[in-house]
Amino acid sequence: MVLLDNLSRGNASRVDGFDLVVGDTADRELLSQICRTFRISSAIHIAGYKSVQESLRHPDRYWENNYIKSERLVGVLVENGVEAMIFSSSCSVYGEHGVRNLVESDECRPMSPYAQSKLSVEKLLSEQSDLSSVCLRYFNAAGADLACGIGEDRQTANNLLPFLIRAIFQGVEVQIFGGDLPTLDGTGIRDYVHVRDVAEAHVAALLAIESGSLLSGTETLNIGTGVGHSVIQVINLIEQYTGRALKYSLVGSRNGDASYAVASPGRARNLIGWQCKFDMRAIVQTAVDWYGEG
Ligand code: WQD
Repeated sequence: MVLLDNLSRGNASRVDGFDLVVGDTADRELLSQICRTFRISSAIHIAGYKSVQESLRHPDRYWENNYIKSERLVGVLVENGVEAMIFSSSCSVYGEHGVRNLVESDECRPMSPYAQSKLSVEKLLSEQSDLSSVCLRYFNAAGADLACGIGEDRQTANNLLPFLIRAIFQGVEVQIFGGDLPTLDGTGIRDYVHVRDVAEAHVAALLAIESGSLLSGTETLNIGTGVGHSVIQVINLIEQYTGRALKYSLVGSRNGDASYAVASPGRARNLIGWQCKFDMRAIVQTAVDWYGEG
């Protein structure tokens, strides 16, 4: 097993148990060499930028890094006889569908360059005749794996959980977006899924391809729990677990944010036998404990 990462946003100290090659997925020669040296038959492609908000500010950066480089990567892998790919896609491809759980057959209405870049790679993969693929539409990956020493960067991570946890420990006031959304308390509802469950979905998908239990071609699967939490509910859980109070103010909704993004996870269960093991309480506890260890 070999890991290729240009470390532009990754951290080599977190790599344990793999050969790490520091390089770019767009480097054709390096990729071909890796394919030959390690006799690669399957790839898990998780190299990409992941911030909806950054993509609104820098759309070209997202198109180049997430789409153009994926296009080149797929080309080189196919040339080198790689037969299977698991791709980290995103629930953000769905866009706004009101307050109901999302199924893979729902129309995709991307609301940001990030979401568009993911959807375009899904389309590219669906057009490959020599490569079987599974596109995993991650919902909101969160939490930490303390046993493996893996969690989000305590100083810079800006997704909701690390952001709120940092603020509550530092006593800083934060802004909560979307007091006006059509949800139970007006704030955005998301399906938070534990990073360990997300990781296991990749293994399950790869095993399903290799065992032949998935038809060749492309599959698209939601990777979420099926349970949604509003921002206010997340704050309540963090306050309960830490015994601290968070200072916050409600402001208008944020550009690019859907009001509700919760999975119907049945397809992943049926096709690759994957199911979440961690609930929201465990996600909050591991995220807080991870912050506390730093
Ligand atoms: C969550 C909620 C915000 C910050 C993420 C990933 C993206 C994709 C989808 C996989 C929203 C609210 C946030 C703040 C707030 N995942 N919020 N105040 O935008 O759902 O996107 O999941 O591909 O890659 O980044 O995640 O954590 O930024 O926001 O009120 O300061 O928290 O409006 O409702 P988002 P997030």
